[in-house]
Amino acid sequence: MLSQTLGTVFALLGLANYSWAQASQNVSLPQISSSPSNASQILDPRLASLSIEFSYLPSFGGNLSNPNLLTKELLQRLVERTGVGPDIRPGGISVDSSMYQANASALELDESPAGGIYRTVFGPAYYESFAVFPNTSRYVIDVNLGNNTIQYARDEIQAAIDYIGWDKIYALELGNEADQYPPGSRPSTWASSDYTAQFLGWTSILSRNLSLPPAIFQAGSFAIDPTPTAPMTTVSIIQEGVDSTNEVKVFSQHTYQYSTCDPVRNAIATLPNLINHQNITAYLDLWKPQIAAAHSIGKEFVVGEYSSVSCSGKENVTDTFGQALWLADTVLYGAFLSISRMYLHQGATLVLQSGNQANSAGFSWYDLWYPVPSDRYGSARASPSFVAYLLITEAVGSSGQSQISLIPTPSNPQLAVYAIWDNSILSRMAILNLSTRNVTSSQDAGEVVVDLSEYVSGSGATVKRMTAPGLDSKDSSLVTWAGQSYENGTASGMEVIETLQGGSVTVKGSEGVLVFL
Ligand SMILES: *[C@@H]1O[C@H](CO)[C@@H](O)[C@H](O)[C@H]1NC(C)=O
Ligand SMILES: *[C@@H]1O[C@H](CO)[C@@H](O)[C@H](O)[C@H]1NC(C)=O
Ligand SMILES: *[C@@H]1O[C@H](CO)[C@@H](O)[C@H](O)[C@H]1NC(C)=O
Ligand SMILES: *[C@@H]1O[C@H](CO)[C@@H](O)[C@H](O)[C@H]1NC(C)=O
Ligand SMILES: *[C@@H]1O[C@H](CO)[C@@H](O)[C@H](O)[C@H]1NC(C)=O
Ligand SMILES: *[C@@H]1O[C@H](CO)[C@@H](O)[C@H](O)[C@H]1NC(C)=O
Ligand SMILES: *[C@@H]1O[C@H](CO)[C@@H](O)[C@H](O)[C@H]1NC(C)=O
Ligand SMILES: *[C@@H]1O[C@H](CO)[C@@H](O)[C@H](O)[C@H]1NC(C)=O
Ligand SMILES: *[C@@H]1O[C@H](CO)[C@@H](O)[C@H](O)[C@H]1NC(C)=O
Ligand SMILES: *[C@@H]1O[C@H](CO)[C@@H](O)[C@H](O)[C@H]1NC(C)=O
Ligand SMILES: *[C@@H]1O[C@H](CO)[C@@H](O)[C@H](O)[C@H]1NC(C)=O
Ligand SMILES: *[C@@H]1O[C@H](CO)[C@@H](O)[C@H](O)[C@H]1NC(C)=O
Repeated sequence: MLSQTLGTVFALLGLANYSWAQASQNVSLPQISSSPSNASQILDPRLASLSIEFSYLPSFGGNLSNPNLLTKELLQRLVERTGVGPDIRPGGISVDSSMYQANASALELDESPAGGIYRTVFGPAYYESFAVFPNTSRYVIDVNLGNNTIQYARDEIQAAIDYIGWDKIYALELGNEADQYPPGSRPSTWASSDYTAQFLGWTSILSRNLSLPPAIFQAGSFAIDPTPTAPMTTVSIIQEGVDSTNEVKVFSQHTYQYSTCDPVRNAIATLPNLINHQNITAYLDLWKPQIAAAHSIGKEFVVGEYSSVSCSGKENVTDTFGQALWLADTVLYGAFLSISRMYLHQGATLVLQSGNQANSAGFSWYDLWYPVPSDRYGSARASPSFVAYLLITEAVGSSGQSQISLIPTPSNPQLAVYAIWDNSILSRMAILNLSTRNVTSSQDAGEVVVDLSEYVSGSGATVKRMTAPGLDSKDSSLVTWAGQSYENGTASGMEVIETLQGGSVTVKGSEGVLVFL
């Protein structure tokens, strides 16, 4: 629960804005049902979860003598909203060249001169980093499949059992993006059926050797978008019998809508292309058959790793407030499609990812926070996108009984409206105006006025606003959720809780609100 009512300002919405608001546009919504309709499954309070690049986890977590307090604080902000910590997947490409050794120090990296990590050896002290994560966070244990040596996977699972324990291990995952192994660690002929056969063989051996519980594995974790040319998907491995031995708990695929891995894709990874409701929804719609396939055999579907731009994001795009709007729309829409959880990747550029990528080594431009000071980013702090995880976690809430639906507004293509029912009662609405309002735009760029009077119950609705000087803002101290910024992990400034004006809420371009009905 939030306990920040002291010092809260109840603002009359928009008084300051109306003098210049000639360009306001009234939007009336289609009728929204008071009980869940066209809605998602019950939302997991851990919808907004995290993936942290395996070889960088100690940078994010610190250790027992030097815990990373920024990480600790930021994750507590999520616990306050949902009652539980986000799930954490220490994983990613560096897992597939990792090795646990009982006599190793926390982390021993073998790097190329350009900063590419080609081997990660870790020891018991690695697990000290986990102490900063919320006690209610659970872990997806991603282990080395890429090296094709089952002993590595066995030892890594054993270490996780010893140092994390089954009460916090949610699932085990073999490798990362196995559909991208060929032609490196697997021959170019390596196909979906080969993945499935290896999954069945290894899970059978590991289960016997380590006395694993049934249905404990997260299968898939594929990278390539599930278009008809995708080499392997949730659909294909289910058809091949990946769950025939009841080892699968959850299916996972990764989503990166854009990329800086090569110049052609780098060119279209722009803010106007990213912050586009049609692009966001059309992209996630590609996964509908995958989600349906998992659900058809009674399993969860998760996006086990995601962000907007692969190969570590893009400067002036994914390090702006635009990433917050992209995140809010992406995760709320993913929830509407009944994706159980989405694990936002926190990483660093791994120069081995591609031979002609745009980025050099350093933390990723899309990280939700920069955990330690670095040459590229300066001081450790939350990035401008962090506030999106506050909007999302408050939209989901803590009841464990909420459902979400997209309310279509086809004549306003850049408006994203979501209704959230809690215990089957229409309780909250998230409204995002994805139209561009840049820092340098003139002040009268316009706004949208949405009439919600019909849905307000009791003593009236309140509004929390996610905003910034503009879509392209990069200064976290100017990016706010309900009037407060979070650059050092705690709320800074006076909280601003607005009320509706005449039953309506006003949303400028590049801004989002969460209305509590
Ligand atoms: C929007 O609605 C308000 C009243 O609800 C009205 O005063 C205003 O003129 C309308 N604006 C436009 C552009 O229609
Ligand atoms: C239900 O959701 C789908 C999107 O999956 C949308 O196309 C459709 O218009 C929605 N129907 C209603 C009645 O809101
Ligand atoms: C803990 O982290 C600090 C700072 O990175 C480092 O100096 C120290 O050696 C670490 N302690 C252990 C036991 O690894
Ligand atoms: C697999 O492990 C062996 C032994 O450590 C090493 O020589 C090899 O380079 C590793 N392969 C990969 C792809 O990491
Ligand atoms: C650590 O243990 C491995 C065997 O698990 C051994 O090969 C290696 O030499 C040991 N390293 C040190 C520094 O003792
Ligand atoms: C987890 O619980 C332990 C024991 O109650 C406590 O000392 C520790 O601070 C908690 N960790 C976090 C991150 O809240
Ligand atoms: C599991 O495998 C290890 C070798 O990696 C072996 O020492 C151990 O005896 C095996 N345990 C069981 C129960 O098969
Ligand atoms: C995304 O949106 C832009 C408009 O901003 C459009 O031109 C583009 O074709 C869309 N699709 C992709 C894949 O970028
Ligand atoms: C990002 O913006 C800054 C400031 O405008 C500029 O100096 C820098 O070159 C830009 N970087 C890229 C990759 O466009
Ligand atoms: C806003 O800024 C972004 C990047 O800085 C640019 O790509 C876009 O064209 C700008 N849009 C407007 C409407 O000024
Ligand atoms: C963040 O800054 C506030 C003051 O602005 C301070 O009270 C708080 O202790 C700081 N938190 C951290 C984690 O540094
Ligand atoms: C969103 O904001 C823009 C200003 O950037 C405004 O022109 C537009 O009317 C607003 N509403 C919608 C539905 O896009």
